[in-house]
Formats: sequence, structure tokens, C-alpha cells
Amino acid sequence: MTNAIQIEGLTKSFGTTTALAGVDLSVPAGRVLGVLGPNGAGKTTLVRILATLLLPDRGSVRVGPYDVVRDSHQARALTGLTGQYAAVDEVLSGFENLWVVGRLLGLSRAETKRRAGELLSRLGLAEAAGRPVRTYSGGMRRRLDLATSLVSQPRVLFLDEPTTGLDPRSRGELWELVRELVIGGTTVLLTTQYLEEADRLADEIVIIDRGRIVASGTANELKTRVGGQTLVVRPRHQVDLPVLRDLAASICGGAPRIDGDQVLAAIADPAVSAVLAQRLESAGVPVAELALREVSLDEVFLAITGTGDRSPACPQRTVG
Ligand SMILES: Nc1ncnc2c1ncn2[C@@H]1O[C@H](COP(=O)(O)OP(=O)(O)OP(=O)(O)O)[C@@H](O)[C@H]1O
Ligand SMILES: [Mg+2]
Repeated sequence: MTNAIQIEGLTKSFGTTTALAGVDLSVPAGRVLGVLGPNGAGKTTLVRILATLLLPDRGSVRVGPYDVVRDSHQARALTGLTGQYAAVDEVLSGFENLWVVGRLLGLSRAETKRRAGELLSRLGLAEAAGRPVRTYSGGMRRRLDLATSLVSQPRVLFLDEPTTGLDPRSRGELWELVRELVIGGTTVLLTTQYLEEADRLADEIVIIDRGRIVASGTANELKTRVGGQTLVVRPRHQVDLPVLRDLAASICGGAPRIDGDQVLAAIADPAVSAVLAQRLESAGVPVAELALREVSLDEVFLAITGTGDRSPACPQRTVG
């Protein structure tokens, strides 16, 4: 399968700040890549370079067959961008915003009108189409912003935190729309701070931190990497928390942690929970809850970007 996006050795600095410190990634045509990273990780810088708004310092960046520096016009013609901050004109109406974009792209008046009408209704903005954008809610602006990037029917779409600030319903609608685009063959690279968003939409996820890719894979692969599951143990009496943590550590190794009224431990082997239950019983520590749940992408993100518990998952060999 040909790659719609191919990046090798990409670096970019602003003065003494290194925004991208050597990024390699590829996205096959028709797939969704989720780029996750904390504030300042380099996500917007990456998207702006891909969208030909910013020049790289070093490395090669191709969109389809086009190099974003050498063939920037052709690359731009293939792509659409919804930036991190809505870039719509407040004074113009929703329809007029799309009209301007369509005409600037060289579409005929009839084609522009048709396309604008189609996008406005698809994004739930048909009723508000004639109103100035300054009367739109944040979610409506975000949707209009997305509509402007779809006027050109891009084969490759860059979405920089597309659902930041949206309520859960609007977020769900936008996800639905992205799925439809992907079914239609569009390749999407989206950045997000919402792990759930990456989990729901992306075929593949890269986690970027301080300008470097620190992990990549499918959501499930990343979860497995940090530890298949999380063991949750809640003692009946809070005073038992430290004892319980130490017991869990003696079985799991690693570093189970106290979180509120429970102890959490990343484990690779579910059999650990039965062993722990036995030990707790022998030790006479009454337990209110002992459960296994899947590691959330949140925990993966925190573990990998270093803000959370970095301890390795409980190894299998200690069981039994
Ligand atoms: N035009 C610029 N001039 C100077 N520094 C910049 C510029 N653009 C980005 N940076 C710096 O580059 C680094 C990466 O910024 P970038 O905007 O790419 O991060 P981000 O991952 O998009 O963050 P956020 O989640 O906050 O949007 C940051 O340290 C930022 O301060
Ligand atoms: Mg950003």
C-alpha cells in the first residue's frame, strides 16, 4: 500500500527551542494516524510543516508523491487543514466563509454553491448558514472550520486538536464525520489530547514528547506494552492501604501505587489477582473490592510521557 504521508528525520527548531527532534512516521493511504502528546510536544509544528505552512529544518516530508518543500503547490492541493484555533471570518456568514474558500480554490460559482450547501447541511449548519459567524457557538465554529478544509475535497486531511472545547455530543458528531471521510478514502492525521479520541478514531497512534516519537502502535498494542491490565484493590479499612500496597508489590514486583482509597498495579498476568487474594486472606486483610480492568490509554500516555507511574508491569514469572 502506498503511504499518503511519509516523514523521515524531520527536525525543526525555533531559536533555541527544539520543536521536532528527528521524527519518522508514515501513514498508509486511507488510514487514520492519531498523534498524541502533551502541551508543547511538537504536534502543531508537525501539522504546520505537513500543511506547507512552515519549512522544516532537516528531513524529508512527503504527502502522496509530493515533497512539501520542493512540490509545495502540489502537496497543498492534496491536503486540507483544520488548525488548532478556528480560522473562520467572524463577520461573514457560514455560507460566505465557504464561498470565499471555494472561489479562491478556483471552483465555479455553481460548484461552490453546491459544495457549500452540501457541507453546511452535512455539518449541521444549514439553519445557521446565513448568520454571521460571530453569533455561532464554539462547536459551530469548529464545525465550520472543518467544513472550510473540506471544500477542496482533500485526499489527506490534517486535524489539529479538532474537538478541543467541544461538548461530548459535538465531539461524537465530529468523530462520525471523520469516519465517513475515511470510508470515502481520505487519509487523516489528527492530533489530540483526548486519549479516547485516538482510541476511537485512529488505526495507529504515535505518542510524541519533546519533539520525539516515544511510542507507537495500535491502541491495544500500546496498552499491552504498559501492562495488559490494571489490578484494582480496595481494602475495607483505609488504614490497610500501605500493607496492601506492600503485599501487592511482593507479588507483582514493580511499584503498585495508592490512588485514593485503592491500590493500583499494572499486571501482565491476570493470575496475579488470585494469588493476591489468597495472600490477603492469610494476612487477615479484609478487602472490599478486588478487580481487573483494562489499562486505559490515559494510563499508557501518562506512563510513557513520564507524568505518571513508570513502573513496569508485574512480570509473569513471580506468579505461583
Ligand atoms: N513560532 C514559534 N516560535 C517559537 N517557538 C515556537 C513556535 N511554534 C512552536 N514553538 C515551540 O515549539 C514547541 C512545540 O510547539 P507546538 O505548538 O508544536 O506544540 P503542541 O504539541 O502543538 O502543543 P499544544 O498541545 O499546546 O498545542 C513548544 O516549545 C513551542 O513553544
Ligand atoms: Mg498544538
